[in-house]
Amino acid sequence: MLSPTLTILGVLFFSSVGFCKVYEDVADLPRLRYDYVVVGGTAGNVVANRLTENPSVSVLVLEAGVSNEGIVDAEVPFLGNDLLTPTGPYSWNYTTTPQTGLNGRTISYARAYLLGGCSSHNGMVYTRGAKDDFDRYAKLTGDEGWSWDQIFPYFLKTEKWTPPADHHDTRGQFNPRIHGTAGPISVSLSGFQWPDFQRRIIQTTEELPHDFPFNSDMNSGQPLGVGWVQSTIGHGERSSSATGYLAPGYIQRTNLDVLLHAHVSKLVNVTQQQGKPRFGGVQFRYGTSLFVAEASKEIILSAGSIGTPQILLNSGIGDHNTLHALGIPTVVDLPSVGQNASDHSYFALTWAVNSNDTMESITQNATRFNEAFDQWNTSRTGPFVFATPGTHAGWLRLSADSPAFEIHPDPSPGYGAPHFEVLFVPSGAGVPGHFISLLMGMVSPVSRGSVAISSGDPFAVPLLDPAYLASEFDVIALLEGVKLAQKFLTAPAWQGYLGAPTVDFAAMNTTEQVVNLRANVLSGSHMVGTASMSARGAKYGVVDPDLKVKGIAGLRVIDASVLPTVPGAHTQAATYVVAERGADLVKQMWT
Ligand SMILES: Cc1cc2nc3c(=O)[nH]c(=O)nc-3n(C[C@H](O)[C@H](O)[C@H](O)COP(=O)(O)OP(=O)(O)OC[C@H]3O[C@@H](n4cnc5c(N)ncnc54)[C@H](O)[C@@H]3O)c2cc1C
Ligand SMILES: *[C@@H]1O[C@H](CO)[C@@H](O)[C@H](O)[C@H]1NC(C)=O
Ligand SMILES: *[C@@H]1O[C@H](CO)[C@@H](O)[C@H](O)[C@H]1NC(C)=O
Ligand SMILES: *[C@@H]1O[C@H](CO)[C@@H](O)[C@H](O)[C@H]1NC(C)=O
Ligand SMILES: *[C@@H]1O[C@H](CO)[C@@H](O)[C@H](O)[C@H]1NC(C)=O
Ligand SMILES: *[C@@H]1O[C@H](CO)[C@@H](O)[C@H](O)[C@H]1NC(C)=O
Ligand SMILES: *[C@@H]1O[C@H](CO)[C@@H](O)[C@H](O)[C@H]1NC(C)=O
Ligand SMILES: *[C@@H]1O[C@H](CO)[C@@H](O)[C@H](O)[C@H]1NC(C)=O
Repeated sequence: MLSPTLTILGVLFFSSVGFCKVYEDVADLPRLRYDYVVVGGTAGNVVANRLTENPSVSVLVLEAGVSNEGIVDAEVPFLGNDLLTPTGPYSWNYTTTPQTGLNGRTISYARAYLLGGCSSHNGMVYTRGAKDDFDRYAKLTGDEGWSWDQIFPYFLKTEKWTPPADHHDTRGQFNPRIHGTAGPISVSLSGFQWPDFQRRIIQTTEELPHDFPFNSDMNSGQPLGVGWVQSTIGHGERSSSATGYLAPGYIQRTNLDVLLHAHVSKLVNVTQQQGKPRFGGVQFRYGTSLFVAEASKEIILSAGSIGTPQILLNSGIGDHNTLHALGIPTVVDLPSVGQNASDHSYFALTWAVNSNDTMESITQNATRFNEAFDQWNTSRTGPFVFATPGTHAGWLRLSADSPAFEIHPDPSPGYGAPHFEVLFVPSGAGVPGHFISLLMGMVSPVSRGSVAISSGDPFAVPLLDPAYLASEFDVIALLEGVKLAQKFLTAPAWQGYLGAPTVDFAAMNTTEQVVNLRANVLSGSHMVGTASMSARGAKYGVVDPDLKVKGIAGLRVIDASVLPTVPGAHTQAATYVVAERGADLVKQMWT
C-alpha cells in the first residue's frame, strides 16, 4: 500500500519532471499486481480515475491501442473523420459479416485503437437519450439506480459546460440548468457557424412546428424536436475520456498506471471463491510475448461492445455448445454473451445548394483549408473547431398509425423517446460543388445482431453482425424517416436555396427506394447490448444490475455493452454515466 505522504511526494516529483505514467513499454511498468485491472475503454479511464481517488487503491489500465497524445486529427474537431480510415493505425479495421438486410453487403465497422477508446475518434455529438430509455433500463434490470432520475446526477458529474470557441451568444440554444460545470468532459455548442444553413433549420421549426418543433435543449430527458447540437469539445479541442479522465492531474497519481500496446487475450488463473469461479489475472500480449497482470480485488472489462464479449468468450464465459465446438473449456455457461447487439443505422440524403456557406468551401479550397488550420493552430478558433456530424439534430417519432406497427409492436421505450434522429450537415458527397445532407438514423431498431468468435485463437478477428435492417420493421420505419427528412425541406425557408438532390429518391417507387436503402445504409457505430444487464436471476443476460458478471466472482463489465437496448441517442454520454455509476458500485462494495 502507498502511504498518502508518498503519494503527495510522488505527484510533486512527477509533475516537476513532466513524467507521464502512460507506459509505452511493458518493461517500464513498476509491477504486474494491482487491486484492479481495467481493460480498455472510453469507460475504463473513468473507472480508473474514480477508483484511484482513494490513494490506497491501485489500478492498471491495459489498452491495446496507441496513445492519443500528439495526434492532430484527434485534437482538431473538423479532422476527426481522418482517424476512421479502416486500415489506418488508429482503427481495429473491423468488417461486418455479410448483412442480410443490406443485400449481403459487408461494411467496415469503426472502433478506435486509441487510448480513450472511441471517445478519441468519435463524432463528439453529446446526447444523453430520453428519460424513457433509462426508465426502461431500470425496469429491465429491476434496479431503480438505472432510472433517469437517479442517473441524472452522473450526467452532471461527467460534464463541464464550456463556452463555444467563438463566444457567440448562446441564449436560447441550450438550458444551463441541466448541465454540469465541474466534470472532466467539456461540452459546448459549436464554436463555428454556418449561418446560411442554420437560420433555415430554425426557420423550419417555426414554419412546420407540428412535425418539427424547436427543442431548446435535447439533453433534458425530453429530446423530441429539433435543436442545436452539443459536442464534447472544450476551447476548440476534442474532449475525450483520455484528455478528460486521464488529464495530468489524474495520471500523475502514483496509484494509477496505464499500459499501451497491451492486447488482452483472456482471463486466467481460475480459483473458487464462495462457490463461484474467480479469475486472478488478465493475460495480454505485448510485442510477441504474453504477460499476466494480477488483480487482487476485481477485473473490470471496459473493452467495448466488441472487445468485451470477445474476451469473455475467449475466457470460457459464454454459450457452452459454441465454446465446446471451439475447444474452449466452459467456465460459466452464459448463452447471452455476444447476443442481442443493437445498433443504429443511418441513410444520407444530399442536395446541391445555392450557397457557398458549406464545408466544401474549406475542404475543396486548399488555401482556405490551410488558413483554417493555421487559425486553429494559433487560436483554437475558426472552422476547424466545428464537429462534422452536424449543426443541429432532430429526434422524431413514427406516425401513430405507421404500417410499421403492423409488423412489430413499438420498439421505442415510450412516447417521449424517438424512433429517428436526423442530423443536419452542411456538406455533401465529396464531389465538387456546395451541398447539404440530412442524415436520417433509425434509432429504435427491432433488429438484433451479435458478436462471436470463430476460433480458439484469442487474437483471431471476431465476427461482427450488427444485423442492420434485418427486421422489416426497421426498413419500413427508415423509409418513413426518409420521408420526414424530405418534408423538412419543403418548408418555405429552403426556397431559392435548395438545388437538386444527388439521388432523386422521391422519384423512385417503394421497391426501388427499399433497394436504395439496403444498398446505402451506413453503420451508426453505436453498438450496445453484447454483455447486457438483466435482472438478478433472469434467464438471460450477462451482468447483474451491479455490473458483476453472472455466476463469477471478482469480474465486472463497465462499458456500453451492458446497455440492454441502444438508447435513442449517440452512445458516449450513456457510456460515461454507466462508467461513473459502475465506479460507485465498485467503491460501495469495497468500503
Ligand atoms: C466512428 C464513431 C463515431 C461515433 N460518434 C459518436 C458521437 O458523435 N457521439 C457519441 O455519443 N457517440 C459516438 N460514438 C459511440 C461512442 O463513442 C461509443 O459508444 C463509446 O465510446 C463506447 O465506449 P466503450 O467504453 O464501451 O468502448 P470503446 O470506446 O470501444 O473502448 C474500448 C477500448 O478497449 C480497447 N480494447 C478492445 N479490446 C481490447 C483487448 N482485447 N485488449 C486491450 N484493449 C482492448 C480498444 O482499443 C478501445 O480503446 C461513435 C463511435 C464511433 C466508432
Ligand atoms: C484490414 O482488413 C482488410 C480486410 O477486411 C484486410 O485486407 C487488410 O489487410 C486489413 N488491414 C490491416 C492494416 O490490418
Ligand atoms: C494465481 O492466483 C493465486 C491466488 O490468487 C496467486 O497466488 C498466483 O500467483 C496466481 N498465479 C498466476 C500465474 O497468476
Ligand atoms: C435478448 O433480450 C431480450 C430482452 O430484451 C431477452 O428476452 C432475450 O432472452 C435476450 N436474448 C439473449 C440471447 O440474451
Ligand atoms: C461566397 O460568395 C460570396 C458572394 O456570393 C463571396 O463574397 C464570398 O467570398 C464567398 N465565400 C467563399 C468562402 O467562397
Ligand atoms: C479559396 O479561398 C481563398 C481564400 O479564402 C479565396 O480567396 C478564393 O477565392 C477561394 N477560391 C474559390 C474557388 O472559392
Ligand atoms: C502549429 O503551431 C506550432 C507553433 O505554435 C508549430 O510549431 C507547428 O508546426 C504548427 N503545426 C502545423 C501542422 O503547422
Ligand atoms: C418499380 O420500378 C421498377 C423499375 O425500376 C419496376 O420494375 C417495378 O415494377 C416498379 N414497382 C412498382 C410496384 O411499381
